[in-house]
Amino acid sequence: ILSKRIVVLPGDGIGPEVCGEAVRVLHAVADRFGHAFHFDYQLMGACAIDATGAPLPDATLAACHQADAVLLGAIGDPKYDNNPAAPVRPEQGLLRLRKELGLYANIRPVTAYDQLLEHSPLKAERIQGTDILIFRELTGGVYFGEKGRFDDGNSAYDNCTYSRAEIERIAHRAFRAAETRRHKLTLVDKANVLETSRLWRETVQQLAPQYPSVALDYLFVDNAAMQIILNPRQFDVILTENMFGDIISDEASVIAGSLGLLPSASVGDAAALFEPIHGSYPQAKGKGIANPIATILSAAMLLDHFGLPEEADTVRDAVQHALDQQVVTPELNPATRYTTEQVGSFIAYAVLDIADCEMH
Ligand code: IPM
Ligand code: MN
Repeated sequence: ILSKRIVVLPGDGIGPEVCGEAVRVLHAVADRFGHAFHFDYQLMGACAIDATGAPLPDATLAACHQADAVLLGAIGDPKYDNNPAAPVRPEQGLLRLRKELGLYANIRPVTAYDQLLEHSPLKAERIQGTDILIFRELTGGVYFGEKGRFDDGNSAYDNCTYSRAEIERIAHRAFRAAETRRHKLTLVDKANVLETSRLWRETVQQLAPQYPSVALDYLFVDNAAMQIILNPRQFDVILTENMFGDIISDEASVIAGSLGLLPSASVGDAAALFEPIHGSYPQAKGKGIANPIATILSAAMLLDHFGLPEEADTVRDAVQHALDQQVVTPELNPATRYTTEQVGSFIAYAVLDIADCEMH
């Protein structure tokens, strides 16, 4: 029996809806396996700006520091996207939270589900069997470098900095993951142009002898963007810096068939946060059409983090069951019209091992 405190940050747009379903599934896990999960709801993002003026209120940050894990829905609101002069933005809350919690490794699995092969715009025979684990550095690089304007606002800059220590700590995690998988690690960089990328290559290369069973190779990010679509099965673990990882993980989601399927874990030495890779999808807010699976699979990663692999696998099996039965939201099957809540409930029931879990 395990007792854990989970801070839930539902956020904006579809965030509360998809988080609600992931919490439903975690309740089912707690029931079936006899654990006690305590959920503490806090504000972050545009909803926090509306309520308090700050995207990451002090109370939220304090609660996250004390939690065993954080579950996040999504943040963002179009009223900020179209206003470059906005003094505070929802994204600042997420970026600060990642930094304050020291969540330097963002782990994004990309899987081609057999049930959805025909759904991807890519050819089924090309993507079948794809199983990639992306390690994206999350607290450094151009996202966190000095930024500003000069020349009366007519020029702008964003600095990109990395230290050897920042590269080593995530590289060790990526090598260790490769050791438990297919023993291949691909560093994605732009070492033909960027000095930071040359430091990445040099540092990762120096660590390689500590992991003799792992074959290390390198790709420039432009070529990697092409290879991910042309031949995704060639990849096992991908390691990359913050912005390249942001871009190629959205690209790789096309393989899965929907951005609504991809979970992520963001971990550091003292904290862990779990969130879908998709955004707040404001157009879908309140319509019951948002796919909760990415957040539910993020909850499965949270269970892995708690040292509960059987519970995590049960959640993943329940998701497979929903895909088998085509209990999916409209972007995956417009004919069936299951809602966010119906998909979440189906998966929660499957976790509880209810024999008759067909939808009525
Ligand atoms: C992501 C998102 C964030 C990022 C945004 C919302 C700041 O796109 O988690 O991938 O760029 O990291
Ligand atoms: Mn992104």
